[in-house]
Amino acid sequence: MTPDLLEQGAKRVEARMAALAAKEGKTESGGRAAGFSRIATPGQVDVTHGRILYLEDVCVSFDGFKAINNLSLDIAPGELRCIIGPNGAGKTTMMDIITGKTRPDSGTVYFGSTIDLLRYTEPQIAELGIGRKFQKPTVFEQLTVFENLELALFTDKHVKASLFFKLDSVQSDRIAEVLHTIHLADSVLRTAGNLSHGQKQWLEIGMLLMQDPKLLLLDEPVAGMTDEETERTAELFLSLKGKHSLMVVEHDMSFIRTISEIVTVLCDGSVLAQGTLDQVQADERVIEVYLGR
Ligand SMILES: Nc1ncnc2c1ncn2[C@@H]1O[C@H](COP(=O)(O)OP(=O)(O)OP(=O)(O)O)[C@@H](O)[C@H]1O
Ligand SMILES: [Mg+2]
Repeated sequence: MTPDLLEQGAKRVEARMAALAAKEGKTESGGRAAGFSRIATPGQVDVTHGRILYLEDVCVSFDGFKAINNLSLDIAPGELRCIIGPNGAGKTTMMDIITGKTRPDSGTVYFGSTIDLLRYTEPQIAELGIGRKFQKPTVFEQLTVFENLELALFTDKHVKASLFFKLDSVQSDRIAEVLHTIHLADSVLRTAGNLSHGQKQWLEIGMLLMQDPKLLLLDEPVAGMTDEETERTAELFLSLKGKHSLMVVEHDMSFIRTISEIVTVLCDGSVLAQGTLDQVQADERVIEVYLGR
């Protein structure tokens, strides 16, 4: 065979391989770009690289003000990550970006190693398995605890189905399990509107858990809670760790001390320090901008 023929043959094989790879949704490199053509299915998050969430060089400006400024951060599967930082540091904005509420001007945001979150809408991101808890509880006040959890089995687009719906045993078991987890098993028939502030917060967390999210984002979850409710919330989060990944933003340092492993300090839209609470509390820069006030 002449070198020419060899070369042509090699090219044909290359072309065939590329066509096959394209059909399977893979790129030649098998690298990060592989995610671009893959269809993300709920329940399938590729964490083989040891990260459930990955942000790199994320920036967002509001009227010229850089609320998020080259923010890079990642979270391991099953981790409970605490985020602290002064008012206006960009903590809530970061959650807005992860959940698709705010689009960054630049940067990378991945869920696992293949799902580029910037390509999805807010409801799609929720369906992919990222649950978010805002500071104010948003339960259905007129409904019972049970009915709230039952409704949470359905995402918006399935509301119609829920009208003609009867729980199967798996779903009933799931509700019972979640009721137990959120300490509301004794209040199952109470109207949500009659619950204490802390109980409403737990119910809302329970509603998120009904969807079995991979990652839960919780913004100031113990604000307004009594000391006892705060303690029970700490127990709740510690029990969720491992089964879910959690990102918890809080200003309550004793709560952070109870639950934290790694603490990330945000300031001016980027990571100022990261480590155990003791480590970041001893960091001069952190004391200056936040803890020392
Ligand atoms: N939609 C918006 N339009 C304009 N500015 C915004 C918007 N969202 C956030 N900001 C600004 O971005 C900065 C970061 O706000 P963000 O709410 O993320 O801070 P935070 O760390 O959550 O603070 P806190 O601890 O008070 O909740 C603030 O200066 C805020 O005013
Ligand atoms: Mg905030």
